[in-house]
Amino acid sequence: MTVKVPTIDAAGVAMPAIGLGTWDLRGAECVSVVGEAIGLGYRHIDTAAMYANEREVGEGIRASDVHRGDLFVTTKVWPDNLAPKDLLRSAGESLERLGLAYVDLFLIHWPSRTVPLAQSIDALCEVKRRGWARAIGVANFTVAMVEEAAARAVEPLACNQIEYHPYLSQTRVLEACRRHDMAVTAYCPIARGAVSDDPVIQEIAAGHGRTPSQVALRWLIQQPGVAAIPKTARRERLIENLGAVEFSLTEAEMARIAGLARPDGRLIEEDHAPVWDAAE
Ligand SMILES: NC(=O)c1ccc[n+]([C@@H]2O[C@H](COP(=O)([O-])OP(=O)(O)OC[C@H]3O[C@@H](n4cnc5c(N)ncnc54)[C@H](OP(=O)(O)O)[C@@H]3O)[C@@H](O)[C@H]2O)c1
Repeated sequence: MTVKVPTIDAAGVAMPAIGLGTWDLRGAECVSVVGEAIGLGYRHIDTAAMYANEREVGEGIRASDVHRGDLFVTTKVWPDNLAPKDLLRSAGESLERLGLAYVDLFLIHWPSRTVPLAQSIDALCEVKRRGWARAIGVANFTVAMVEEAAARAVEPLACNQIEYHPYLSQTRVLEACRRHDMAVTAYCPIARGAVSDDPVIQEIAAGHGRTPSQVALRWLIQQPGVAAIPKTARRERLIENLGAVEFSLTEAEMARIAGLARPDGRLIEEDHAPVWDAAE
């Protein structure tokens, strides 16, 4: 039996609230995990030019018997390619590797330190106008960057994909996204597995007969306009993570999990990262 995952609105496009993260799935394993995930009910697959697995993601999609129109596929352009010509070339190459006529969501993977944002946003809008993406958006954008991008974009920005899990408060960015009707997609949603060892999350999970990963994912998708893209290569965890759609947390539990955020909770620090907004 496949699980039916609810969707959230991403600029008029329905984005399944749980998706499959595919970093760092490669080769035959990537093909089989994507196919298996779709068979279990995943309809949202997250990849990127940088993951070097778009061909395998496309193959996994084609191996499934689910209609293309029922899937939500995201890919991203790397910051080296944010000059307008490069962005359009990268988008075209991603489609070719995926073997798809369009993606559902095309994102700027990280902001650039060299290319003016306005130029990249104009090219991003062109990707949508060409019909290469049903929706467009950004990733790893701070509040100021969300504001600047939203002011410039002539097509709606659907989403900001950011690191978000119980140890990292993203209140300010969430508020900025909500001001502009943008969804938030949470990456590293189970803090790369760390939630499994958390006594508070374990206690809440036990109360629901659930696992800590399910509770962390539930905490995310129970917030308005938030989706989550956990990665796993294991069938039993694909099933487990989908189980986040099958129960609810109380308001008190939601608040208790939010209270786990800490100033050093961020996991992803890259050289090209922007100066992040201060966590609350
Ligand atoms: N936009 C960006 O800059 C950006 C950055 C990072 C990630 N992402 C996207 O977000 C996705 C998710 O982030 P992530 O992969 O970094 O972290 P994550 O999903 O929080 O954690 C993945 C890790 O947790 C393990 N895991 C998965 N399910 C589990 C479960 N139920 N119980 C215990 N452990 C479990 C996985 O191992 P097994 O595979 O062995 O199960 C893997 O080691 C990525 O795959 C990628 O698509 C985007």
